[in-house]
Amino acid sequence: MENQSQPTVFSSSARNLWRAVEPSIWTSNSDNIRRDQALSVLKTLLDQPRWLEAYLLYDERGSQLFEQICKLPEYYLTRTESAILAENAGQLIRSAPVECIAELGAGSSAKTLHLLREQVRQRGTGIFVPIDVSLPSLVASREIVRRQLPQLSFSGLHARYQDGVSSIEKSLPTLFVFLGSSVGNFNHSDFVQFFDHLSQCMGPRDFLLLGVDRVKEAEVLEKAYDDPKGVTADFILNVFQNINRIMNCNFDAGKMRYHSWYNREWQQVEMYAVSTASQEIRFPSYGASFSWPKDDRILVEISRKFDPVRLQQQLQWFGLKPVEHFTDPKEWFSLLLFQKANSSESG
Ligand SMILES: C[S@@+](CC[C@H](N)C(=O)[O-])C[C@H]1O[C@@H](n2cnc3c(N)ncnc32)[C@H](O)[C@@H]1O
Repeated sequence: MENQSQPTVFSSSARNLWRAVEPSIWTSNSDNIRRDQALSVLKTLLDQPRWLEAYLLYDERGSQLFEQICKLPEYYLTRTESAILAENAGQLIRSAPVECIAELGAGSSAKTLHLLREQVRQRGTGIFVPIDVSLPSLVASREIVRRQLPQLSFSGLHARYQDGVSSIEKSLPTLFVFLGSSVGNFNHSDFVQFFDHLSQCMGPRDFLLLGVDRVKEAEVLEKAYDDPKGVTADFILNVFQNINRIMNCNFDAGKMRYHSWYNREWQQVEMYAVSTASQEIRFPSYGASFSWPKDDRILVEISRKFDPVRLQQQLQWFGLKPVEHFTDPKEWFSLLLFQKANSSESG
């Protein structure tokens, strides 16, 4: 893999940070990835309340389970967002005259094909840069794009959002795409850090397309995150298998259960692992441990729900100017297009 030439999407300062890991897929050269992951896990698990960062959910099994969740009848998010994209892709691509589409947390990129097809139809060519921590998802994305849209140049980045975004050449007109309401997985402080960093990485001709799930009745939301087949429960509890692998620790999957609810005040679905018997969790390589008592819970994931108008107002503080707003007939989901504001326009 070593002698693949670097894609033109990288800024000159970023080129030596990446190495090829698969044809057309690049990963970080850094030796610190495992150490950074371990520190992040310890920091959040030793916090009060204990919690986890969402990217840890996406090992190979987690990514497969997420694909299954997307097909569940209760999980309206994927099909609703896909329908909005299918209907409005032409308008979206006309409004964002770019050469590159960079997708954060792309997964298999199935919905993004609506945009990529329009990019090819309207401009004849383009560059697609999916960024994802899941290598199998990037491989799936490469195969589907190669098969369906061979006119596109494909460069997958196997990385966390911030590392991928900061390596893209700022002068390349780019539409950053962040779908699936993944932005709802950030807590309030991570939300601020994320948009601050993204906006700083965006060039003057760049756009952002954000897919967000909206505030709605608790009953609909609670069903979407607790399906009767238990796929969501498996997805959430699988994170502990991944953490055992990364940290060589001893979470016992047989001694925990899934619990979720919609917190109306915070407008977020909260997904917990609840201990069903006390466990002593040890991290032998890091000299750390903690007791996880029976009935105590760890917040594995949140999914915040949004008021799109308020979100448009908030993002103006990060120099992102609202351009378009598309929704579905029930107004359950919104696709928001923003343009990077000139520094004189930003709030
Ligand atoms: C909720 S899924 C959404 C997938 C797809 N965009 C969709 O809308 O169906 C989140 C995706 O983001 C990836 N992901 C999660 N956290 C990430 C992070 N911090 N950096 C990069 N990728 C991340 C996961 O591997 C997964 O593919």
